[in-house]
Amino acid sequence: MKLNKSVKAVIDKIWKIKEVSWAKYSLRKCNSVGPLTRMVGKISVNNLGIIRLGEKVKIWGTLIPIELVALPNAELIIGDNVSINFGVSICAQKSVTIGNNCGIGNYSLIMDTDFHEIGNHMSTKRPSAEPIIICDDVWLAARVIVMKGVTIGKGAVVSAGSVVATNVPPYTLVGGVPARIIKKLPHPDELNQEGEAV
Ligand SMILES: CC(C)(COP(=O)(O)OP(=O)(O)OC[C@H]1O[C@@H](n2cnc3c(N)ncnc32)[C@H](O)[C@@H]1OP(=O)(O)O)[C@@H](O)C(=O)NCCC(=O)NCCS
Repeated sequence: MKLNKSVKAVIDKIWKIKEVSWAKYSLRKCNSVGPLTRMVGKISVNNLGIIRLGEKVKIWGTLIPIELVALPNAELIIGDNVSINFGVSICAQKSVTIGNNCGIGNYSLIMDTDFHEIGNHMSTKRPSAEPIIICDDVWLAARVIVMKGVTIGKGAVVSAGSVVATNVPPYTLVGGVPARIIKKLPHPDELNQEGEAV
């Protein structure tokens, strides 16, 4: 049976309201969550520091839950209009900042600490952490690992399965283990309305 457009629009709206309400409930342990942030599926939030999410964040915790962790005194900041796919784990021992309009692909792992020290991995003492900054408009494809101390520049793309151990310049495509520059990407000013390079 074909639904007419206005019925579809109403159903769409109801779904969105449901997703926004579910996000409000699921993210209740966060310090702040912006308006119209929505979520489906499951998330685990362990907030012993500060966790803030911007507006219109989309969290797709279907299939595999998402994990957000801020250890004591740590800050985990997620900007506006960020999309987080299933199986993603983000952990801040000191500071993880994700800018606006970023896409975090499924099963990606972002952690600003090694958790253990080489030669002393059974010790419960944590090594010091180094902040991670992911600037605006970054896309992490599936199964990307971002290591401590890394800054990923605005508009960069990290290809699937990469391990980012060093800084990534803005508007570059990087890939591999460890991630290396594959090519430069055009700045938005260099694109026409169809998104083609001019
Ligand atoms: C980011 C991505 C879309 C780039 O695709 P692309 O622009 O078509 O790039 P290409 O396939 O032309 O590859 C360009 C070069 O990078 C290399 N490359 C591509 N992906 C790579 C990777 N994950 N690791 C290492 N090198 C890679 C290619 O071998 C190629 O090298 P060459 O120029 O020596 O032949 C793609 O690499 C990718 O990660 N796709 C998966 C997206 C994904 O995970 N989606 C779901 C979650 S959101």
